[in-house]
Amino acid sequence: MINRLYSKFIIFLTILISTLLLGTKFNLKATDSNAKFKTIKSGILTVGTNATFPPFEYVNENGQVDGFDIKLIQAIAKKIGLQCEITDMEFGSLLSAIDNKIDVIASAMTKTEQRAKVVDFSDVYLKTTQYIITTKNRDIKKEESLKGLTVATQTGTTSSDCAKTLKDVKLKEYNRYSDIVSDILNKRVDLAIFDENTANTFGEIYKNKLKVVDASILNFKPEEYSIACSKQKRQLLDAINKALFEIKNDPGPEGYNALVEKYIKNNAYTAPLTKSEKFINKLKANFNKEKIKLYSKGFITTLKITIFAAILGFLLGIILAILKLTKNKKGKKTIIARISSLYIDIIRGTPVLVQLLIMYYVILASCKNSTLVAVIAFGLNSAAYVAEILRGGINAVNIGQTEAGCAMGFTYIQTMLYIVLPQGLKNAVPALCNEFISLLKETAVVGYVALLDLTRAAYQISTATYEPFLPLITVTILYFLTTKIISLGVGIIEKKING
Ligand code: ARG
Repeated sequence: MINRLYSKFIIFLTILISTLLLGTKFNLKATDSNAKFKTIKSGILTVGTNATFPPFEYVNENGQVDGFDIKLIQAIAKKIGLQCEITDMEFGSLLSAIDNKIDVIASAMTKTEQRAKVVDFSDVYLKTTQYIITTKNRDIKKEESLKGLTVATQTGTTSSDCAKTLKDVKLKEYNRYSDIVSDILNKRVDLAIFDENTANTFGEIYKNKLKVVDASILNFKPEEYSIACSKQKRQLLDAINKALFEIKNDPGPEGYNALVEKYIKNNAYTAPLTKSEKFINKLKANFNKEKIKLYSKGFITTLKITIFAAILGFLLGIILAILKLTKNKKGKKTIIARISSLYIDIIRGTPVLVQLLIMYYVILASCKNSTLVAVIAFGLNSAAYVAEILRGGINAVNIGQTEAGCAMGFTYIQTMLYIVLPQGLKNAVPALCNEFISLLKETAVVGYVALLDLTRAAYQISTATYEPFLPLITVTILYFLTTKIISLGVGIIEKKING
């Protein structure tokens, strides 16, 4: 009975893996050498940005990345004959993503000497300076007025560098500008340092509560925005500069001046929802067609990563468990058993997020497919837990079974595979299912490596609406329903097995 179930299970697994592998296009294609420019994906300009910085890059009310820089880089890509693909990530991750994950950065990035060591900069497309944004009632006339105050900035920016030169202030760093603004409004911080146009954009939206102060009293230096490009792609940079020059001189609707007019002077960025907005309007803004598309896309990514990682984890877990149980003739643990124990210990003793980041930025840094990186990271992680679960299951199998196997002339591996493992597996089913559910929940951190999963979709939507409640509650319900459905399914399987 158990053996029949076991072989059915193996057949099912094989079919599942093949269908999934065929169905998903893990494009590991090398760059086409005939393409015009050497880019990460042939024919595509992959652009990194941090879409929390209106009017240059932000998520618009449809949940799409929009803004001055986005339109500019799209126009440049069009001119040089490439398609444009935007990747939204943390500002602080942009520089390390260049060459591996993105070709260029279009993110209102100030050209600095420090950054020029790792990237090449295009010609300048805008000049700016740092401003202060604070609540209406606060007077800031000289540097001393800042004494004892908490100053907010975005991590990794020149604003943050500027803030670090201030004396007697407390610094607080954020990932999203929208979070800084809401913390000023909620009085969690006293003021923030933003680039001029972004300070003005937020100042305009919250003109009843916030004010913008020119920070010239603090002697910050003027800054210039450029597109950052890989140092290895000189030709691409030359082409970008040529296109930029043409766009600057184009008086038409796709030219530079038209963009300045639309995004910077007239502020195309629409005000996000306000606290006083009626609930029905909030609902509408949260569940329009675009947002639902975003949730579905995120949900599919979450499922894809979970299922593939679970399969990988399960298969590797079996191997690890068997290896960990191997003994030499004297009945001592083999070297292989020790190595697999060490692997299991390290994986279980470190956060999965750290493992994911190591995979993404170090071990698989040159892998273009972030989903694949996540699958591998979570698969390797889950394998360690699966191995421990299986080991428990196997240990619970009566020792007589192993002896019987040996008496029948089976080798150790054969005894394991045909006699012990099937029974051990049966013992382990409930725990394995729990592992699957944990895995599904743990994938919520993949947003860190610029993947749009369910959690990231909610985050992105709240960046657009400034309304964290509805997106968060939506994904909570979705996660809960999914795990509930899985556990119901598991219950049925368990009953079948035991019956
Ligand atoms: N210009 C500043 C810098 O280069 C801030 C840019 C922030 N941009 C963004 N998209 N978040 O550091």
